[in-house]
Amino acid sequence: MRGIILSGGSGSRLSPLTKITSKQLLPIYNKPMIYYPLHTLIQAGIKEILIIVAPERAGDYLNLLGSGKDFGVKFTYEIQDEPKGLAEAFLIGENFIDDEDVAMILGDNIFEDNFSKEINSFKGGGKVFVKKVPDPERFGVVKFNKEEKIETIVEKPKNWISDFAVTGLYVYDSRVVEIAKSIKPSKRGELEITDINNWYLQKSELEAAKVEGLWLDAGTFDSLLAAQNVAKEKLADKMSF
Ligand code: G1P
Repeated sequence: MRGIILSGGSGSRLSPLTKITSKQLLPIYNKPMIYYPLHTLIQAGIKEILIIVAPERAGDYLNLLGSGKDFGVKFTYEIQDEPKGLAEAFLIGENFIDDEDVAMILGDNIFEDNFSKEINSFKGGGKVFVKKVPDPERFGVVKFNKEEKIETIVEKPKNWISDFAVTGLYVYDSRVVEIAKSIKPSKRGELEITDINNWYLQKSELEAAKVEGLWLDAGTFDSLLAAQNVAKEKLADKMSF
């Protein structure tokens, strides 16, 4: 299993904090934000990690993270010239993924859970990780049928279909690269991860696992502040670096 951290974007919602650095390098209590998704991948035993960054911030990432030696893993870096959607990560990461399975995590997603079992038991297809939220319209949303299997998955549904949001951790087999090549940009001009998930769903190859512990995305001032406090109370002493 290879890992990708998607850490591009301009972080415009957090301006002026992001005028001088990348959103995913902002502090979450005593660590840069990206340490949390990095910890999630490393804890799952992933040793080869591609970090996708915005061009103007690439130097900051290299200075902070280096080769990966200090973390006991190997980092590769790629540039995302413009944020054109989460699924673009699989085009940028084509050579890196090669013929391996891949776990992708968003650089601003903070999880409390240890996903080792879920990631190591992966046997092909696609897997998403869902969590009940009070504001599902902000996310990709999964509706389950009576057998607890995924019935539909919709990007930011206008009308309520379910409270289960798709979080920013995804596991796919290597077919994901060809699937990413086949999808078209959405109305917002992005290659949508939800379209990748729908491809696997149509083949009955998409599974969902529930996130038990905390999940935070730190993309707004309020969620950033909340994440800082949660990190201090609950996460800081669980980090191995
Ligand atoms: C993206 C995905 C969405 C997912 C969310 C998780 O949303 O499109 O399906 O639920 O990440 O953070 P975006 O941040 O692009 O609005």
